[in-house]
Amino acid sequence: MKLAGVIGDPVGHSLSPTFQGAAFRAAGIDARYEAWPTPLAALPGRIESLRGTDVLGANVTIPHKEVVLPLLDELDRSAALVGAVNTIVNHEGRLVGHNTDGAGFVEALRHEASFAPEGQPVLLLGAGGAARGIAFALAVAGAGVRIWNRTPARAERLAADVRAAGFSATAVATPDPAGARCVVNCTSVGMEGTGTEGDTPCDLHRADPGTLAVDIVYKPAETAYLKAARNAGLPVLGGLAMLIHQGALGFELWTGLAAPVPVMFEAARAALAGAGQR
Ligand code: ATR
Repeated sequence: MKLAGVIGDPVGHSLSPTFQGAAFRAAGIDARYEAWPTPLAALPGRIESLRGTDVLGANVTIPHKEVVLPLLDELDRSAALVGAVNTIVNHEGRLVGHNTDGAGFVEALRHEASFAPEGQPVLLLGAGGAARGIAFALAVAGAGVRIWNRTPARAERLAADVRAAGFSATAVATPDPAGARCVVNCTSVGMEGTGTEGDTPCDLHRADPGTLAVDIVYKPAETAYLKAARNAGLPVLGGLAMLIHQGALGFELWTGLAAPVPVMFEAARAALAGAGQR
């Protein structure tokens, strides 16, 4: 029996054990995916334990995505570019850090919304950790990345970091969706439990017809932002797609097999619906 798990603090709410476990079962892989709650002081020991022969690897989530870097043996290009790791692969005791958050987001755009980012103007709302991975992946894919943030200095810093890596990105002063082909909410606005559930980070009535509105928040499944987009007649993509596709890329790194994406979606949706009933 092989082992994988998610490392964070807390991780009790994580959907990864549910959909990765379902993926292992569907693929006929004898492996278990566990939740590994890990306070900062325990992180070095936890990472060391991943070198065991039975361990495929792990996911890393808040608050350890950046502090984990020096504990690993090697970083792939995505992790080095973004400066954060969400996936660790154990190659016979050698730990390699990857970042599938941004690539998972781009996969979700391609496969769940039929949106090819090459050459397209994309507006990111937010400049925190989540926006960072997405900004780099979109820029690498050839999108024209525009970044707005409530605190403008953070947007300017992120755009400068993307440009310093040799890609195109600009910070913008207002969250005006006009002229963008895709607008992504990377802020926590609208997320359950934040007190902003009724709010949206921008006025989508100013968006061009056909602009794809994406939210990376997946609880609730339809945020106020996505509801406003739907009411404005825009195509929409919810946050579960990014979560599943970052996990699918991790599954592929650990197993070398194509991930059973529909099975993963179904397991995650069932868990979310079950949680909603409690
Ligand atoms: P994450 O890693 O999830 O991105 P984060 O780094 O804390 O979390 O970033 C949260 C993002 O949501 C930031 O862009 C934040 O804007 P600031 O940099 O100005 O704080 C944004 N955000 C949070 N609450 C917001 C609100 N009420 N209105 C607009 N943006 C908000």
